[in-house]
Amino acid sequence: MFEILEKQQLAAGTVRMRIFSPLAARRAEAGQFVILRAEEGGERIPLTISDFDRAKGTVDVIYQVAGATTMALDAKEQGETLPDVVGPLGVPTDTEGVRRALVVGGGVGCAIALPVAKKLRAKGADVTSVIGFRSREQIILEEQFRGLGRLFVVTDDGSYGEKGNVCAPLSRILTQGERFDAVYAIGPLVMMKFVAEATRQYKIRTVASMNPIMIDGTGMCGCCRVRVGGEMKFACVDGPDFDAHAIDFDEAIARNRAYLDFESRARERACNLLKKGDV
Ligand SMILES: Cc1cc2nc3c(=O)[nH]c(=O)nc-3n(C[C@H](O)[C@H](O)[C@H](O)COP(=O)(O)OP(=O)(O)OC[C@H]3O[C@@H](n4cnc5c(N)ncnc54)[C@H](O)[C@@H]3O)c2cc1C
Ligand code: FES
Repeated sequence: MFEILEKQQLAAGTVRMRIFSPLAARRAEAGQFVILRAEEGGERIPLTISDFDRAKGTVDVIYQVAGATTMALDAKEQGETLPDVVGPLGVPTDTEGVRRALVVGGGVGCAIALPVAKKLRAKGADVTSVIGFRSREQIILEEQFRGLGRLFVVTDDGSYGEKGNVCAPLSRILTQGERFDAVYAIGPLVMMKFVAEATRQYKIRTVASMNPIMIDGTGMCGCCRVRVGGEMKFACVDGPDFDAHAIDFDEAIARNRAYLDFESRARERACNLLKKGDV
């Protein structure tokens, strides 16, 4: 059993949990994730390790309440336990040789981007971050990013920082002639696709962290397929980071949409059955 040592609300619907999980903490690196269950018999969900403390044996996850399992997780309080926390899984983010980095995070993707920015800074790199949210209420981790270097904050509705999406400051910086050894993009698929398009013409190495549906997280089920450079890769064991210029984003977006369509049809069917009193 894995004890929840801390629980903190970061923004509306976004929560940080510190979990006692010495095995995961011992080998955790930026870019890796755990698969956990909130309850016995519950669904397994992947969440990125947003921070870790090897000495104390803790890992932090930051989750957005999205559906049944994150809701069940959110119902847990400090002092309660989780039945499973498996990890670290996935390949750590490659920061080798990067002296100037641009880290771009969108929404809860900022929870995944922060450990990457921290790792880069710890290795002496110069870090610029661009973080974007729908509006002021959703902003998380601003101070943590600011502590690592130059920061641009954008909101879709302009309620805080610059109005627009992350591509605005990104394109401006690149047009002004600034260059980076690597750009790390972590957020919604569409955001990562446009970041990749923006950096392609400048031939800047760009890495995207993919988050397809995962089941086993060990390369067995094939559920997390992503086409990269024409080859099928599994995000759980080959990723989640891939060369953003080689990812087939359109296929990834279509696969994700197919899941969402299936999910909403299933929900609709369940509601109709409940209304008819069949269940
Ligand atoms: C490698 C990886 C790292 C992730 N890290 C984070 C993180 O740090 N913080 C965070 O808030 N979210 C993260 N996610 C997404 C998170 O796993 C989903 O939000 C979660 O599984 C939702 O489950 P649910 O039952 O609450 O919601 P559901 O209603 O089941 O799903 C809500 C949405 O979440 C996605 N989703 C559902 N099940 C899975 C699954 N098994 N695998 C992947 N996505 C799923 C789908 O897009 C779905 O539409 C990550 C996903 C991956 C693959
Ligand atoms: S989650 Fe099953 S192969 Fe990746």
